[in-house]
Amino acid sequence: MNKDMIANEVLSDNIASVLTLYPYAGDFFSASGIEGFQDRPQWTVRQYIADIPEALLEDIGASSSQLAEHFVLFLSRMEALKQKKKNVEKITIIGGQNKLGEHEDITISIEKGEIITVMGPTGSGKSCLLADIECLAQGDTQTKRKILIDGRIPSERERFQIENKLIAQLSQNMNFVMDLRVFDFLRLHGESRMIEDLDKVIEKIFDTANDLAGERFSKETPLTELSGGQSRALMIADTAFLSASPIVLIDEIENAGVDRKKALRLLAREQKIVLMSTHDPILALMGDKRIIIENGGIKTVLETSAMEKQNLKDLEDMDRKTTKLLHMLRSGERVETSVTML
Ligand SMILES: Nc1ncnc2c1ncn2[C@@H]1O[C@H](COP(=O)(O)OP(=O)(O)OP(=O)(O)O)[C@@H](O)[C@H]1O
Ligand SMILES: [Mg+2]
Repeated sequence: MNKDMIANEVLSDNIASVLTLYPYAGDFFSASGIEGFQDRPQWTVRQYIADIPEALLEDIGASSSQLAEHFVLFLSRMEALKQKKKNVEKITIIGGQNKLGEHEDITISIEKGEIITVMGPTGSGKSCLLADIECLAQGDTQTKRKILIDGRIPSERERFQIENKLIAQLSQNMNFVMDLRVFDFLRLHGESRMIEDLDKVIEKIFDTANDLAGERFSKETPLTELSGGQSRALMIADTAFLSASPIVLIDEIENAGVDRKKALRLLAREQKIVLMSTHDPILALMGDKRIIIENGGIKTVLETSAMEKQNLKDLEDMDRKTTKLLHMLRSGERVETSVTML
């Protein structure tokens, strides 16, 4: 609920109903030595504030209109904090229809901390599936899918609120338009989330982002000067540590200089539900399950098997060699030793 909505309702509401909605409301006044909020249940908040003796207001150093404003701010912040703690244990995808209009006979549940990859040919409908989850579709998109949160239909508020979104979408291009330095961006974001110990959190995000990105950047670097990989790394670290969204969607992390394996582990460790579309076999096998899309419909869901996890080790070894090869080539070295020796 945003501040203006709280302002309009709350100030003209009676204290009894304000307390039902915001049980902690009286704390705001008692913390300033103004007692008796609970004792006048039939008064409106406006009446109550107007009745505060002038001398007491002078002690506090606020006019009655300022006090009213601070009260509203206090409530909206407390509400934001409550939402921050909101957890999602599970999302459920209920099948709709594919591009041919055929019924998608499937229900998939994804639990907290799980990594799900979405695979299928170009144009098959991977981005569409992620978009359905992003808007918590209710049969109102072209796929006719429905998405449940913890087994229930999400409220209108959960679907359409802009602040404190349940879902963070990391799209292919971050396209920063803001002319901010990395540090200012993180500080603003942290302040809007009312993070305690913000300096420490900023430091952690900054270090993690640099760890994920190939080339280091500084806190003074303007966002618009970050490379594709650097800005993606920054957004991933920001999402892991600053975003309240329990669900993270990643559409096609292309090979943009981000250590994608680390990024995935980081997001899963922060107990997010992660869904990622990919064309990369290693990332696919790193997931707990993979959803296979064909013709706009979910063809099947496969759990990564023990044998596949075993194969993943060999693949990662190959990947390590390829990365080493890339470093050698980038720094102008020749690759004349046997590749098996790398
Ligand atoms: N169930 C469906 N019903 C109707 N149209 C669909 C359905 N699923 C996907 N489409 C359409 O198919 C087209 C391609 O889908 P989408 O962009 O999701 O593919 P993609 O798998 O993400 O491809 P790429 O790998 O190139 O990113 C889109 O125009 C989308 O609207
Ligand atoms: Mg796509």
